[in-house]
Amino acid sequence: MTTLTFRPAAALAGSVAVPPDKSLTHRAFLLAAISDRAVTVHNPLDSEDTYATLHAVRVMGAEVQGTVSSDRVVITGRGVRGLTPPPVIDCMNAGTLMRLAAGIVVGQIGDVTVLDGDTSLRGRPMRRIVDPLRAMGAELEPTAEGTSPLAVRMGLPLRGVTHDLPVASAQVKSCVLLAGLNAVGETWVREPVRSRDHTERMLEAAGVTVLRHGDMVGVRGPVASLSLPDIRVPGDFSSAAFAIVAGVLRGDPEVRVTGVNLNPHRIGLLGVLTRMGADVRIEPGPDVAGEPAGDIVVRRAGTLHATTVTADEVPSMVDELPLVGLLGALAAGVTTVSGAAELRVKESDRIATVVALLRAVGATADEREDGFVVTGARSLPGGHVQSDHDHRLAMLGAIAGLVSDGGVTVHGFEASAVSYPGFADDMAGLGAEIA
Ligand code: S3P
Repeated sequence: MTTLTFRPAAALAGSVAVPPDKSLTHRAFLLAAISDRAVTVHNPLDSEDTYATLHAVRVMGAEVQGTVSSDRVVITGRGVRGLTPPPVIDCMNAGTLMRLAAGIVVGQIGDVTVLDGDTSLRGRPMRRIVDPLRAMGAELEPTAEGTSPLAVRMGLPLRGVTHDLPVASAQVKSCVLLAGLNAVGETWVREPVRSRDHTERMLEAAGVTVLRHGDMVGVRGPVASLSLPDIRVPGDFSSAAFAIVAGVLRGDPEVRVTGVNLNPHRIGLLGVLTRMGADVRIEPGPDVAGEPAGDIVVRRAGTLHATTVTADEVPSMVDELPLVGLLGALAAGVTTVSGAAELRVKESDRIATVVALLRAVGATADEREDGFVVTGARSLPGGHVQSDHDHRLAMLGAIAGLVSDGGVTVHGFEASAVSYPGFADDMAGLGAEIA
């Protein structure tokens, strides 16, 4: 286990090129695997999660040249229904991989594949994909608790359905749309609030007609072929969010994150920061991979004001809500996050783990069934925290240390490698002292 101490930083300054986007890297690998042409994915994310996806793509029969550590990977796919999944696919810690892969695997020709993962992934809910896929005609067997290992039977005829998502989820939406590529008729997904639309954008880039009607998105199957163009992956907003929040609290003169994906369904945190009183500037650049991208520049704010985040905003900042808790701990007033019960089924129960972490560093925070409440103070004492094997918790603890009075020691810091292996180096580049 790695233990690192992040000391209080008087000022943080400089520029960070955050790692490539995790959601886009997963999707680029998976869609390349079902494409008809050799696809070059430039600048893939080098992390444990995307390693799992590239490995999955290879064992399912796609030809892969390069690794996630290369600056480009070439994937020669097998077409929309030409993959040959093996008896078991290890998705490691990657929920996005398991849910998107299930949508692809149900449409392949073969016997049974079991999608499995680490202890954390084995605890995450899979009925949300099992139910719509069964309605399409697929056969899937999760555990009695509705979790993985998840056995998926291949080769059954699929039919299009309309699936109403009770809770917005890009993973579930993507799973159903990917299954829809091999179903007969139209497959539609309705979301209460729109979630990130990376899959839809990438399918369109690959030549698939994506149907849109009101709050619904769909595809018409069976789709004959996909032709994904080469893709350059832009920076990950969810990784950038750590440097952004550090910059809002300690940026002097400023912190810049460069080349970040600015998909409108991902950047809800920027609106929250602005209404809390932060100085946030977006410098748009050219689109990357059919997605808006650019730089974000922040500097130390005066007093931050507490805020309220409700269900409508949650999908656009679902992975950044832990950072809202930290901001709330240093804002004037009471910050409330509600409508975010989804946090309980992330890599950890992020309502319980965020509140525990904030308390461990001296903040006043309480759990609610579907969120948390944080009462702000002028300063944060610091302390010792656990990552709970959750990458975003490890990095939350680190940022808490930089903006604390006494520093924060993070136990289990190695979890950060799931999405951001270079995090400590990037923070050191901004002037952070780490021991
Ligand atoms: C993701 C969607 C979100 C997010 C996860 C990545 C994706 O999950 O929390 O980190 O790439 O589609 P949900 O779809 O479960 O909300």
